[in-house]
Amino acid sequence: MSNIWGMNLKVSIFGESHGECVGVVISNLPAGIRLDLEAIQAELNRRKPGKSALETPRKEDDAFKIMSGYFNEYTTGAPLAMIIENTNTKSKDYGDIKQMPRPGHADYTAYMKYKGFHDYRGGGHFSGRLTAGIVFAGAVAKQILSKLGISIGAVIESVGMVADERIDSLIVTEAQLEAWRTSAFPVVHPEKGAAMRQLIEDMRVDHNSVGGVIRCIGLNIPVGLGEPFFDSFESRLAYMLFSIPAVKGVAFGLGFDVAKLDGKQANDDFYMDGGLFKTKTNNAGGILGGITNGMPLDVQVAFKPTPSIGQEQQTVNVETLEEKTIAIEGRHDACIIPRAVPVVEAAMAITLLDLLLGEEKDVSWW
Ligand SMILES: Cc1cc2nc3c(=O)[nH]c(=O)nc-3n(C[C@H](O)[C@H](O)[C@H](O)COP(=O)(O)O)c2cc1C
Repeated sequence: MSNIWGMNLKVSIFGESHGECVGVVISNLPAGIRLDLEAIQAELNRRKPGKSALETPRKEDDAFKIMSGYFNEYTTGAPLAMIIENTNTKSKDYGDIKQMPRPGHADYTAYMKYKGFHDYRGGGHFSGRLTAGIVFAGAVAKQILSKLGISIGAVIESVGMVADERIDSLIVTEAQLEAWRTSAFPVVHPEKGAAMRQLIEDMRVDHNSVGGVIRCIGLNIPVGLGEPFFDSFESRLAYMLFSIPAVKGVAFGLGFDVAKLDGKQANDDFYMDGGLFKTKTNNAGGILGGITNGMPLDVQVAFKPTPSIGQEQQTVNVETLEEKTIAIEGRHDACIIPRAVPVVEAAMAITLLDLLLGEEKDVSWW
């Protein structure tokens, strides 16, 4: 199994949900970056479980410990490695899933691929808990990107059939991104947020789950990141986003809706603004020819409903091949969306830093 991502930065996550720890190793980070550890912890806190009734009741502090690559408040240039110990595991809830794969989860494919040797407890290495490492790497990347004026924020666009307004990325400000980042449930219209939360609560009470869409926006993006074809900015960001468990769709700019427009409507007209090339609309989501064009990065990410639900479902015992009915116990999110918001932001931050490190020969910019 290989779990390493990145062309310039190398990000590797490891651990299991109910093992000793989860963590990340970030290689090729330049030396001499002063890290704000409190800000990193604050990012991890946005993702940690058990913060509200809408989330899994598994409570974890998600306190991180840096094991390598950091000395006297600065990165040293050695791989930056961190771990988060697992402190609240209840593996007995997961006894059955060894033989009886949960519909919608990774249990069946993991059993077949790893011949039953995988750690199935709490989803093992497939658990959403592994995204803590992505959030840590994203928090480090955000601190470096902020020195270039780049800011990233994400908003919940829909939960199930409850959809909020899709605001124009051109009117999103840095203050707006900051407001989203500091909200536990960021939305455009609070009444839509209340309806989304109610839907998640209804699903929880009904032992069911629901999915949704997160929209992530990046501002002050330099022109020129990404390559044509295989390493297009879309390809690299989608690669990282699809690594997040439960992500089933990624769309840039207008996404699939652009196919409904004619060329005159879809094209973003250019104009000059104080010596800068800009576009009057941002249907392309900030990317042309696989290369960032300096306009806001705009990506939508669709998450499926949490697979582990308490309602009865059909499965097959992988050892006896008998068909069985299961109802999943354990502590699960009725909706992944609220906890996935910082993970999506982290994915954008890591992708931007990876491509920036490839472009920037003079590393003195931070
Ligand atoms: C932040 C986060 C939290 C998650 N929480 C749960 C959970 O509580 N229960 C669950 O069954 N799946 C949860 N998942 C999703 C599963 O990890 C994922 O659906 C599973 O590994 C199968 O992968 P796939 O959906 O990409 O096919 C979570 C995912 C993320 C990103």
